Amino acid sequence: MKKMKIRKRSVGYCGGAFGDEGKGRVVDEKVNHLAKFGPVIVFRDNGGANAGHTIELENGTRVALHQLPSGIFCQEAIVILGKGMVIHPNDLVSEIEKVRTLAGTKMSRIMVDEMAVLSLDTHRAYEFCLKKWEEGGKGSTGRGISPAYADVLYRHPLRIRDLMRNDKEKIDKHYKLYEAFASGLGEKLEKIKVPVFGSDEMINVGTLDVFRDRLLATKNKLEPYVADLGHFIRNTWRNMSYSFVIEKSQAVGLDYRYGVYPDVTASDTTFEGAVAASEGVIDVNKLEKRVGVIKATYMSSVGSRILPTVMEEKRAVKIREDANEYGATTKRPRGIAYLDLPALKFYRKVGKITSYVLTHMDIVYKGEAIKVCVGYKKNNETVEYRPDQEFLLEVTPEYREFPSWSKVKLQKAKKYDEIPIEAKRFIRFLEKELRARVLMITTGPKRNQTVVVKRKNNY
Ligand code: IMP
Repeated sequence: MKKMKIRKRSVGYCGGAFGDEGKGRVVDEKVNHLAKFGPVIVFRDNGGANAGHTIELENGTRVALHQLPSGIFCQEAIVILGKGMVIHPNDLVSEIEKVRTLAGTKMSRIMVDEMAVLSLDTHRAYEFCLKKWEEGGKGSTGRGISPAYADVLYRHPLRIRDLMRNDKEKIDKHYKLYEAFASGLGEKLEKIKVPVFGSDEMINVGTLDVFRDRLLATKNKLEPYVADLGHFIRNTWRNMSYSFVIEKSQAVGLDYRYGVYPDVTASDTTFEGAVAASEGVIDVNKLEKRVGVIKATYMSSVGSRILPTVMEEKRAVKIREDANEYGATTKRPRGIAYLDLPALKFYRKVGKITSYVLTHMDIVYKGEAIKVCVGYKKNNETVEYRPDQEFLLEVTPEYREFPSWSKVKLQKAKKYDEIPIEAKRFIRFLEKELRARVLMITTGPKRNQTVVVKRKNNY
């Protein structure tokens, strides 16, 4: 059989658990590394303002990105907001302005696919109505993500190109539809309060005139970034002088097909989403690496899902404070759970992850073993993960314990050889279980606190 041809200098990053694993920082580092070889395309294809990718700038400032991909602070990068995204134009304009102030001339070029879908205040308001009405939606970030994706399935989305065409008729029709939805659920659309970028304040959706004017006011500001990206993606993917980085948002454990249903997000959080968003141009099988980013010693989850390995609150509180486990988008305290191998294995398989980056390797406590769930039992029988909350409520996790390691020694390490032996053994254990190599670990929140996993004989 013919061997699959790999595209040189191409890599994808996805969340391997339930989000907030620290992808932003990993992508930022990779983009800056690849920039030494020439221009880098950073392609984001899913999600919208629900994401929160935190990165630390060289001067120590920490920035949470929401809609902009993480290569944005690298001058040699071109960041693409792809067709599979749902974009809130007002929030995006504010985010670009904020990043421009911080980045100055070091900002990358931004390109927004004119086919990307709009996720608007109407969607946020409708999500608010739905949250009151139904059970399943109560975990959402309130950024109107699922109603915007639902518009696509209903075949009536508003797209960036509609905004660029000043299509008032379509915008008005959209507002009236959502006004009817809200009114059907007993709410008045114009009076519903929705979140705004970078502020704790909420604003009213407003009347049709207010809504339309606010939206159209973003047209001129966004226009310089918007293009028909079909040819551009094709040309740069084929042109080997460009490096390619796929930055996924959210995580496989939040995917609407594979995550803990019903508290899932509406987008394709696997690498396959990049295939659809590039209209088949990007072949993710040809990526040099498809990297899953996971936390090394625990998992975090924000939403209403109940994970089988949820940690006792006393222990969870400690981790939450030490690792600042509060939502970058909603500031909600994150739930903390033990590492769940049955779930992670499933996400690796369906997410087609080929290697890992382990973050938060420094979250260990002297004399406290690291507990890892190695299997589930249901009615005394061994069972595997299934993407269904009801099922997961009925399983009993089985744990194995591992000795922790010295945080001080870990944080002093500059090379893999220097990390504590217990940490090395733990990494080897995860590699064996997940059947994938660990490429890098992070040993603290600072930009330079990373160690590449390089062993003699390459293993
Ligand atoms: P939605 O994406 O706003 O529809 O939210 C659906 C579920 O996914 C909720 O439980 C959210 O908390 C969760 N979620 C969405 N985006 C993220 C993220 O970037 N990190 C962690 N959880 C997220």
